[in-house]
Amino acid sequence: MQLRTTGIAVAALASLGAASLAVGQGTPPRSGQAVFEAACANCHSGGIGGFFSGAPAVGDKEDWQALLPKGVDGLTTTTVTGIGKMAARGGCETCSDAEIRAAVAYMVEKSR
Ligand code: HEC
Repeated sequence: MQLRTTGIAVAALASLGAASLAVGQGTPPRSGQAVFEAACANCHSGGIGGFFSGAPAVGDKEDWQALLPKGVDGLTTTTVTGIGKMAARGGCETCSDAEIRAAVAYMVEKSR
């Protein structure tokens, strides 16, 4: 039940994000934290989502030890093109390159 409710909340958040993005054409890019929470946290916050996706959890220094040397630029490149089980842009088709980079920078900052 808990899982179901979380899923619905995440879906609601995701559609909210899409709606505000459509309205916000021409406005500045969203912050890294906002993009992360809307498009990446589902897989990258550890817990159940992280367990099933196998994504490195933000804040887990062990998960990020091997990734940090790639730097924000390198990690942004792999995220934009996709890597392993992660789709291009982490599946966020509406995220701009700048927003992906901001989200990656946010994740790196929380995980070093
Ligand atoms: C559907 C789950 C999922 C979502 C959503 C997702 N990721 Fe990932 N991510 C993964 C998985 C799984 C990996 C590990 C891929 C591998 O190495 O096989 C990964 C790896 C990464 C890495 C490490 C890349 C590297 O070079 O090793 C970064 C950075 C990253 N994701 C950023 C993001 C960002 C930013 C977003 C949101 C825009 C995002 N992810 C959304 C599942 C996800």
